[in-house]
Amino acid sequence: MRLHVVDHPLVAHKLTVLRDVGTDSPTFRRLTDELVTLLAYEATRGVRVEAHDIVTPVAPTTGVHLSAPKPLVVPILRAGLGMLDGMTRLVPTAEVGFLGMIRDEETLKASTYANRLPESLTGRQVFLLDPMLATGGTLAAAMHFVFDRGADDVTAICLLAAPEGIAAVEAEFGAEAPVTIVTAALDERLNEHGYIVPGLGDAGDRLYGVV
Ligand code: URA
Repeated sequence: MRLHVVDHPLVAHKLTVLRDVGTDSPTFRRLTDELVTLLAYEATRGVRVEAHDIVTPVAPTTGVHLSAPKPLVVPILRAGLGMLDGMTRLVPTAEVGFLGMIRDEETLKASTYANRLPESLTGRQVFLLDPMLATGGTLAAAMHFVFDRGADDVTAICLLAAPEGIAAVEAEFGAEAPVTIVTAALDERLNEHGYIVPGLGDAGDRLYGVV
């Protein structure tokens, strides 16, 4: 497993505004979108490409294009939806699947309530979008879901991660697993309610309101 904490002043600036309790939902959504595009740039460093011959107005040359099968982007509903546009702006030809997961606020256990994904993900690179890597339960369950369908490389893009969540994913899949976590910051810890400290609160509520 690889952890990449993106160290960039613009990422830190946008994250600081996101964390601020005074930031309203429209601003939160816009900044999430911008931040995800920056994280996606780092997260796609290992995206598979293949040689592609073209002719420029001056001469033939060989460049690259994305390999088939195309990468699959999977927002984890509901909060991951707020990250989708920022990701597909950078990789517009990626396919998009959906995974609905909910965390029981008492037990903190994750369960799947909806999925719209190809039956076979054999040979696919999958990018999971989940803003908050807290206990790691939701992300680990989503990773199992796509590995079980044949995915061979999984990258999770998270706005924030807690050390407990990173440790849980690593314990679940092992240090050698083809798993990468890209995040804007590794925070201090979880509190007794499973919230990341200092965190930014409930990402879904801040994006979409309390419903
Ligand atoms: N989910 C959130 O939205 N926020 C947290 O801090 C932890 C889990």
